[in-house]
Amino acid sequence: MSLSVTLTINHVLQQVELDDPRVTLLDLLRERLDLTGTKKGCDRGQCGACTILLNGQRVNACLALALSHDGAEILTIEGLAEGEALHPLQAAFIAHDALQCGFCTPGQIMSALGLITEGQAGDDPERVREGMSGNLCRCGAYRGITEAVVEASR
Ligand code: FES
Ligand code: FES
Repeated sequence: MSLSVTLTINHVLQQVELDDPRVTLLDLLRERLDLTGTKKGCDRGQCGACTILLNGQRVNACLALALSHDGAEILTIEGLAEGEALHPLQAAFIAHDALQCGFCTPGQIMSALGLITEGQAGDDPERVREGMSGNLCRCGAYRGITEAVVEASR
């Protein structure tokens, strides 16, 4: 049986063949399309490393079946910068030293973008922390992350 989904990924419409109906968006991005910026941490919805925007909403790509989202619009970390110009959130993360190993960073940035798009960020650090509580950072870079998101929210 041949299965396929049509998705707009980082502004490009593409059709992807699936060899298994259980393929998640995370595995489709990383293994089929080589978009490895989206990270696989826990693979069970607990760390936020795989956060992407799906039709403008934050989701954990490890929990989303690709087949269930035919026609969807997906934005990943690779879709943020415009040429050499970083997205303001990316620039703010650098300016605030908001990372150490960087593994959680794509998920943090995509989650922050979703939070800002939802109008849920504002410049209240507590609100930002709460809004991004699903994104874990094993390096404990929370202070810089919060500062960066607050700055980018302004
Ligand atoms: Fe998806 Fe951890 S890899 S939430
Ligand atoms: Fe290392 Fe967050 S910077 S896990």
